[in-house]
Amino acid sequence: MEELVRLCKARGFVFPSAEIYGGFRSTYDYGPLGVLLARNVKEAWWRSMVQLRSEVVGLDASILSSPKIWEASGHLKNFTDPLVDCRTCKQRWRADQLPTTDDGKLKCPNCGGMDFTDARPFNLMFKTFVGPVEDEGAVAYLRPETAQGHFVNFANVLQTEHLKPPFGTAQVGKSFRNEITPGNFVFRTREFEQMELEYYVPPDDAQRWFEYWCNERYEWYVRLGIPREMLRLRHHSKEELSHYSAGTADVEFAFPWGWGELEGIANRTDFDLKAHSAASGQVLEYFDSATGERYVPYVIEPAAGVARTMMAFLLAAYTIDEVAGEERTLLRLHPRIAPYQVAVLPLSKKDTLLPLSQEVLQLLQPVAMCDYDVTRAIGRRYRRQDEIGTPLCVTVDFESLEDKAVTVRDRDSTTQERVPIDRLVETVTARLAW
Ligand code: GAP
Repeated sequence: MEELVRLCKARGFVFPSAEIYGGFRSTYDYGPLGVLLARNVKEAWWRSMVQLRSEVVGLDASILSSPKIWEASGHLKNFTDPLVDCRTCKQRWRADQLPTTDDGKLKCPNCGGMDFTDARPFNLMFKTFVGPVEDEGAVAYLRPETAQGHFVNFANVLQTEHLKPPFGTAQVGKSFRNEITPGNFVFRTREFEQMELEYYVPPDDAQRWFEYWCNERYEWYVRLGIPREMLRLRHHSKEELSHYSAGTADVEFAFPWGWGELEGIANRTDFDLKAHSAASGQVLEYFDSATGERYVPYVIEPAAGVARTMMAFLLAAYTIDEVAGEERTLLRLHPRIAPYQVAVLPLSKKDTLLPLSQEVLQLLQPVAMCDYDVTRAIGRRYRRQDEIGTPLCVTVDFESLEDKAVTVRDRDSTTQERVPIDRLVETVTARLAW
């Protein structure tokens, strides 16, 4: 884990936020490679959830949201964690995450003390004010999940898209939670991105769709390169269930500190639509004009986090092997996830190679995200590309000027193939196996 945090900073994936001021409360900024990786994670999710399906449509609801939404959804009352203070060192903790002694007493991870205040519910929603007057009438919340933005738009989407259950709305966006103990790098932060699908189904089919989505989402991580032995699907016990859920399973990843949640798949029943319908007075149900059938659909919700997924891909891809007797670090990232799919590398900085290298770069840019690197010796540039997970390097050398061909090097096997420039796009596209 330490090695990964080091690599993330050194290679420009993730920086501590406001680092020049000593950092700011477990917040992080994504650097040039982190932005590409995060975009690819979101693109891969969107592709499988929206692009490759005909019954799912997109949505992008606002982050600033009315208190009425959170009152109706139950978040104002129920979205809390149990907060305790250690009386010895004054640190604050989530009671349900504290280690316990053999006889079941809570123990402070900071000072070892066992004297705590009683647990009190702490609401995780960030409250703010809209407009210049900071009074109760101006209160708004930063959404703690994207989900409610789907439910309050249920009728709008039904009207404009003429969909029939099963159908879904997909949304990717930021959510905010005032976590008591953020930590484990970007695993738990107060500002994070979610990728959520709300899938509306006939109530009688809910269990079948719940099982379908559990399987589908687990397999998505496998298809993108995470080995099965690093993943598991864990069903929640009754005590663990959120206030809206009739059943939840988490896709978990074997993080260096133990199993951790990447995504939750929940059967939210008709809880949310009924709650918003009751609070707003609007009809939020499906009506089939052909059969006269009318019902409030159940919702199956696969909800994933971008940062946790990025971490899992990086940890699963992180490899140290040996090439020609030398140790090398590489990220065996799936081409769809890797920040760059191709690096174009002129063998030398000499002016004679640069025009052709630029031509090659411009040929490839429309089909793949390309890095272009003219610094240092070629061996060191290959190592850098291995370390950031670039699947293919295309090297332009002096022979290229004569034979109009380039060398394509494979990240994992390090094998090299000479490819005519006029067949390069076709070869690269096939090799990346889009
Ligand atoms: N709408 C349901 C919902 O929000 P959740 O399990 O609380 O469910 C879904 O969140 C996903 O969002 C989690 O599986 C996790 O990947 C991500 N997530 C939640 N809280 C997070 C946090 N504080 N930091 C980073 N990611 C978080």
